Amino acid sequence: MSGNGPQTESRAQGLTAENFDLVRLTAHDLPGVMRLEKASYPQPWTVDNFLGEFNRRVTLPMGLKRGGELAAHCFFWVIAPEIHLLNLAVEPQYRRLGLAGRLMTAMMTVGQRAGVTSYYLEARPSNTPAIALYESRGFKVTGRRPAYYEDGEDACLMTLELPKRN
Ligand SMILES: CC(C)(COP(=O)(O)OP(=O)(O)OC[C@H]1O[C@@H](n2cnc3c(N)ncnc32)[C@H](O)[C@@H]1OP(=O)(O)O)[C@@H](O)C(=O)NCCC(=O)NCCS
Repeated sequence: MSGNGPQTESRAQGLTAENFDLVRLTAHDLPGVMRLEKASYPQPWTVDNFLGEFNRRVTLPMGLKRGGELAAHCFFWVIAPEIHLLNLAVEPQYRRLGLAGRLMTAMMTVGQRAGVTSYYLEARPSNTPAIALYESRGFKVTGRRPAYYEDGEDACLMTLELPKRN
């Protein structure tokens, strides 16, 4: 049987990405970030990894919250004319509601304002949901980074190039 999972329940409640508040995350959000991270990755980032990003001048940490609870996070570097997406995760019960898409739209709005024309990220070739998400946003697989992950899996390099504005 299918259709009884937590994602289905969220959809049955009529939830959409617009029901979540877009926020800039700070180190105060670390407990929620770690909970979400552990629910999302076989090899989650550590507290120190996140603290490093909260302290890095070029990192923009964004999240979506509902009732004060973190439901999705993303961390990216803005180094115009480039943005590097480092981490994107959505709470399992809120997947397929468009939360990742909304965070990507927010990232690209930041990019547009900063004159960014090049977006890139790494994804596991086995991560078909993530690759489908990025392809739906116009990203293309443009390279491979051998043994990029700690378990030895290669990464797909995915990029999105926009026309330069004069
Ligand atoms: C990948 C991930 C971030 C997607 O988050 P999400 O909020 O469920 O994604 P969205 O609802 O915004 O999906 C947007 C589009 O991406 C694609 N997509 C997302 N999940 C998909 C899945 N499981 N299978 C196929 N396509 C998928 C679809 O095209 C989808 O549009 P649709 O729902 O209208 O068909 C989420 O599955 C996740 O947190 N995974 C674990 C962490 C991870 O792998 N992060 C990415 C690391 S590179």
